[in-house]
Parts: sequence; structure tokens; C-alpha cells
Amino acid sequence: FGKLGGKDIMAMEGRFHYYEGYSMKEVTFPIRVMYELGIKTLFVSNASGGMNPDFKIGDLMIITDHINFFPEHPIRGAGNLLGQSQHGHMEAVGYEMYVKLLNQAIAAEKGIRVVHGVYIGVQGPTFETPAEYKMYHRLGGDAVGMSTVPEVIVAHHCGIKTFGISIITDLGLEDTPVEVSHEDVQIAANNAQPLMTEIMR
Ligand code: HPA
Repeated sequence: FGKLGGKDIMAMEGRFHYYEGYSMKEVTFPIRVMYELGIKTLFVSNASGGMNPDFKIGDLMIITDHINFFPEHPIRGAGNLLGQSQHGHMEAVGYEMYVKLLNQAIAAEKGIRVVHGVYIGVQGPTFETPAEYKMYHRLGGDAVGMSTVPEVIVAHHCGIKTFGISIITDLGLEDTPVEVSHEDVQIAANNAQPLMTEIMR
């Protein structure tokens, strides 16, 4: 708990990933806790593999929408918890247009290159085969990663606005050999961290 840019914030150091063996309820439990504590806006970030040929390693992608490829839905069984139907209208997730525009303006003001795109959330834990990157790109994804979508769905279910950024840590481009390791992803993510913090702040 603390302050960032003059606002009260609650931050998580890391997250629970589905691929680590946690259930969807465990993965998204922190969001329920944040909701109970009264947060109004969720800022999510992640590392992801870029599939859009215009992207470069180290780019920050403002998430405009997502595609959920997780094998289990995070609010399955939640029923009308919080008085909200579990059959939520996902168009309204919207990754909050005004926050997106504001962050774009901040990035421009600070000379930080940002790109935009659709995030595909998959379970992992392995990275994609070349054929899978190609498929996810053709299905409409600009970046693919192993997190974020469950948390965003639950935040939406709680009525919390979301803004998300993906750090492009590796590239899975069609007809280009793919070499990615967990270490490469961590290095690229660490390098981009200060820029992202600046935008968030
Ligand atoms: N695929 C899936 N998850 C990822 C990737 C990727 O290429 N890079 C970082 N997280």
C-alpha cells in the first residue's frame, strides 16, 4: 500500500499464474480483495510475445481488447455474486478508453513509443510453436501471454475499470525462426519497466 503520482494505491509484487497450478479462483482472488478494499481502477501489466510485424522487442503495447484462450473461465460458478450476472457484456470491458487515451498522451509527452493491440491470453506454460504464433496472429491477436485475461474479467465483474499494458518481450512472427527463453523475457521486461512505471505514475 502506498502512494503513486499522488494517488492511494495497492500494488502486487508479481501475480498468481494459472500455469503455476493455481485455480482460476486463486489467480483472481487478489482482484476480489482489491475490490473489497475499494479500488476504482486496475492497472495491469504483463510480458508478452509480439505477433504483429510492426512490433519490436521492448515496445509497450496498450491493450485495446483481449481474446480469452484459457481453458477455464474465472467467473464460472460465480452466479449473480455482487448482483451482477455472470453473463457479462464483455464489450464493456473496453480497457477504458479515456485511461487509454490519457496514457497515450502521457507516453507522447514523455517520448515513449507505444503501440496498440489485442492481447491473447493462453494457459502456457510453454511458449508457442511457430504454427501457434501464426494461428494466434491470424485469429486477431497482436500479442500473446499467459496472464491478465482472468484478472481483467474478474475486475469487470466487480465493476472496476481496467487499463492494461503489455511489454513485448519476444517476437513470434510468421515465417521467422522463434527463439525465446524465460531469461530473455525477464531481461526485456526489466528493461522496459522504468518506462512503464513512468506511464503508470
Ligand atoms: N508467449 C506466451 N507468453 C509469453 C510470451 C510468449 O511469446 N512472451 C512472454 N510471455
